[in-house]
Amino acid sequence: MSERLEDIAAAIAPKGKGILAADESTGTIQKRLDSIGVASTEETRRDYREMLFRATQAMENYISGVILFDETLRQKAADGTPLADLIKATGAVPGIKVDGGAKPLAARPGENVTEGLDGLRERLAEYHALGARFAKWRGVIAISGTLPSRGAIQANAHALARYAALCQEAGIVPIVEPEVLMDGEPGDHSIDRCYEVTEHVLRTVFAELYDARVNLEGTVLKPNMVIDGKNARQASVEDVAEKTVRCLKATVPATIPGIAFLSGGQSDEEATAHLSAMNAGFDMPWNLTFSYGRALQAACLKAWGGKPENIAAGQRAFTHRAKMNALASAGNWSADLEQAA
Ligand code: 13P
Repeated sequence: MSERLEDIAAAIAPKGKGILAADESTGTIQKRLDSIGVASTEETRRDYREMLFRATQAMENYISGVILFDETLRQKAADGTPLADLIKATGAVPGIKVDGGAKPLAARPGENVTEGLDGLRERLAEYHALGARFAKWRGVIAISGTLPSRGAIQANAHALARYAALCQEAGIVPIVEPEVLMDGEPGDHSIDRCYEVTEHVLRTVFAELYDARVNLEGTVLKPNMVIDGKNARQASVEDVAEKTVRCLKATVPATIPGIAFLSGGQSDEEATAHLSAMNAGFDMPWNLTFSYGRALQAACLKAWGGKPENIAAGQRAFTHRAKMNALASAGNWSADLEQAA
């Protein structure tokens, strides 16, 4: 594969495929495994991820890249093959989460800033040697009656830009993820409030990327959709699609090759329907696809349940969701395709 940043960025966010976000940190994957009654150990975490990456039909046809957690990039499959090599063998690109998580921001009660810039240059060089060709850094912005503050948005945007510049120096495509939460507390905000905050966040992020001399053609944006809070969901599919596209058009330069959404707590089918409605209904300068974690894995996790005899069922569930979202990335999904399966 080409090592040009522009080519890697185009390869991971194409029409008709998308990204599997399997980069849950040790704490987050423990919650996922707890939910199916499986103890989280290095081995069960490996087994679970190996099941996903060996779902050949899904990986070859619908998945362009996989975001990994540090542990996974270093792990080997049961037969000794590095997991990153399993991914590469399917034609997908291995990626790596490099942020250190959102931590309380000093002097800004209730707000966070993502840490992890110290030593990042050295870590990126190692990740490149381990085979990663793209990375992810997630900044988190919560909405409440009074938040977010301009200062917290600024701090998160600045960190994203410094991360992105370091990635490109290392030959790694940065996925820039400024997530305006739908599932934060209290989660009762309207879709219009989400629009307003997302617009401000994206404007701030692109100003910072410019100041940091980040090459946008070698960058992928991973935004939230414009959607109402989890405890106030009422916006229609058409409303979410229209407002999300309008907000992106107002803020995201056309030189960005691809935009890959997070699912953020939407149901599996909502996340698919929204993506498809955008691609079917609007002309846009960028490819619009998925970089889903929960919305690609929830059904698979349940079908697997940690039992070796259920691996094929888990892979079928993952393949189905991957296919539905791949169709959505070309605007070709419809609800009756869910029923057919
Ligand atoms: P969700 O799709 O579950 O939001 O996860 C995507 C992700 O990578 C969040 O950082």
